[in-house]
Amino acid sequence: MTALEEDKVTTRQLDRRLFWRLFRLGHPYLHLIAAAFFFILLGTASTLAGPIVIMRAIDDHVATGDMHGLTVMALVYLGLLTIEFLAYFLQTYCTGMLGQKVMYDLRGQIFDHLQTLSIPYFDRNPVGRIITRVTNDVENLNQLFTQGIVTIFADIFIIAGIIAVMVYYAPTLALWSFTVLPLLVVATFVFRHKVRKGFDAIRVLLARINSNLQENITGMKTVQLFRRETRSFDIFARINREHTQAHERTILYFALFFPIVDILSAAALALVILKGGAAIGAGALTFGVVFAFIRYLEMFFRPVSDLAEKYNILQSAMASSERIFKLLDKRPEVRDRVGAKELDGPVESVAFENVVFGYNADNPVIRDVSFSVDKGQRVALVGHTGAGKSTVINLLSRFYDLQGGRITVNGTDIGDLTQRSLRSRMAAVLQDPFIFSRTIAENIRLGEERISLDQMREAARIVNANGFIEELPDRYDTMLVERGENISTGQKQLVSFARAMAFDPDLLILDEATANIDTATEALIQAAIAELTRRRTSIIVAHRLSTIQNADKIIVLHHGRKVEEGNHNELLTQRGLYHRLYQLQYKEELIRKRGIASQGR
Ligand SMILES: Nc1ncnc2c1ncn2[C@@H]1O[C@H](COP(=O)(O)OP(=O)(O)OP(=O)(O)O)[C@@H](O)[C@H]1O
Ligand SMILES: [Mg+2]
Repeated sequence: MTALEEDKVTTRQLDRRLFWRLFRLGHPYLHLIAAAFFFILLGTASTLAGPIVIMRAIDDHVATGDMHGLTVMALVYLGLLTIEFLAYFLQTYCTGMLGQKVMYDLRGQIFDHLQTLSIPYFDRNPVGRIITRVTNDVENLNQLFTQGIVTIFADIFIIAGIIAVMVYYAPTLALWSFTVLPLLVVATFVFRHKVRKGFDAIRVLLARINSNLQENITGMKTVQLFRRETRSFDIFARINREHTQAHERTILYFALFFPIVDILSAAALALVILKGGAAIGAGALTFGVVFAFIRYLEMFFRPVSDLAEKYNILQSAMASSERIFKLLDKRPEVRDRVGAKELDGPVESVAFENVVFGYNADNPVIRDVSFSVDKGQRVALVGHTGAGKSTVINLLSRFYDLQGGRITVNGTDIGDLTQRSLRSRMAAVLQDPFIFSRTIAENIRLGEERISLDQMREAARIVNANGFIEELPDRYDTMLVERGENISTGQKQLVSFARAMAFDPDLLILDEATANIDTATEALIQAAIAELTRRRTSIIVAHRLSTIQNADKIIVLHHGRKVEEGNHNELLTQRGLYHRLYQLQYKEELIRKRGIASQGR
């Protein structure tokens, strides 16, 4: 439900403020806006002038049999048509360009802004919703710029122009034509209200269709393995049905509204013919004037009904822009302090001092943790699943702000350092390694130019990733697909290992970097880790205790607290949690070895 509530926005009271923000988006393209307005005025003026020319032709030239004058009027009419054509062509072109340019800017702005937001934001907001912002909502805004503002003015010009011309030439007949207007206004008002409610519902349901679809596609393996297809379909079908039903309601209003407009305009036409005909008979009006009225009435009702529809476009675009601006206004939770310093010089030491943290403030998952890492030291974090090991890494990377205590690097609180400079000194292999849909080489270098191709290959060689890479068809140029689905999980881990290596950090962080690697590879990696960490400060989270037996210091976490600290031998003699964990794994290891031995026999 929260997703739906967040997608719903009430625009009414904010319309004017929003309007100015939208105007600022179009500001760089004032020339296009101005040109569009100019061409609209020109086009509208020639549209309005058409019936007057015909009126003159009938009354002044047809009535008097002045063939020369009639030809001139025909040419004038042709000229007007040409102007009208060019004006509408150029106006459509200008508004189209305007829309595209604004969308281009906006998508860039959103992307740029997203990258400044901190991790807690992405914890809270599903991918589908954020993607809707960048695609659907931006597309909606395009409608605002192409069909919205500018053409709404065109409609208003036309309506005002027609009323003015009619009142000028025959005020009484004009009044007769407008008798149906109150009915039209009521019909429009009701229609607009009903359709808008429908559109609100459609928009929310569309967002649900999108996120449901996205989740099912991402989880396709699980869906198929657990034969959830029918249930997934039922859930989808329900949302799909609600979406269609919401549309059906608006179809009813659309189907009713336009015939009503047609009938009203026909009624007005009947009145004009009746009253105009009588006036011609009485000699009060000329035939030309009545003819022009008939033409004007035809032109009059379309923009009125269009306005009702465009009002909906406007509403929907306003709602989209509100959501976009809400995202753009979002400030990152984790911010650099005013006057934050750069971390210059290599990382010499890291210290946690009574750190308290919870993803939700009232539920701490790190409680009063203190430890220090000195230059060149290899420090390991161990503990049961959920003990808080990855959280420690998150905090050191400053993805979240602390609730208590502090973390220092070279004695400075990391809160007083810029996030970029802090992260530029460290490299991490995360528990869930991320692969971009690019080549292996690009996945290792991540576009960093200071890493030469040779350095990249060397990094891969050190972590023993080159073995599998060399066997791939295009070696380092092999394209990896989304989330690295075309290589194995262990291979993904090796690639991200090579990535961390290539960046040659002062501080290396490995979060269970060996979890998905077989025993043979593990031995290679362990050698690599030893090589890597010899002169490098490093923090290693490990489930396999064999990886960290020669660590300088082992921190044992339990339910977010540090319960033990020391090297392997010290901790074993303490016979505490580490000892228990070690015993468990040692037994497992024995069983495994025996299993292999009995198979051999
Ligand atoms: N993004 C998050 N939002 C809310 N709670 C979280 C989040 N990430 C982790 N937690 C919670 O914080 C606690 C510590 O999680 P953490 O990921 O640090 O454990 P871990 O020691 O790395 O476990 P594992 O060995 O399974 O990787 C857990 O109770 C977990 O449920
Ligand atoms: Mg973890």
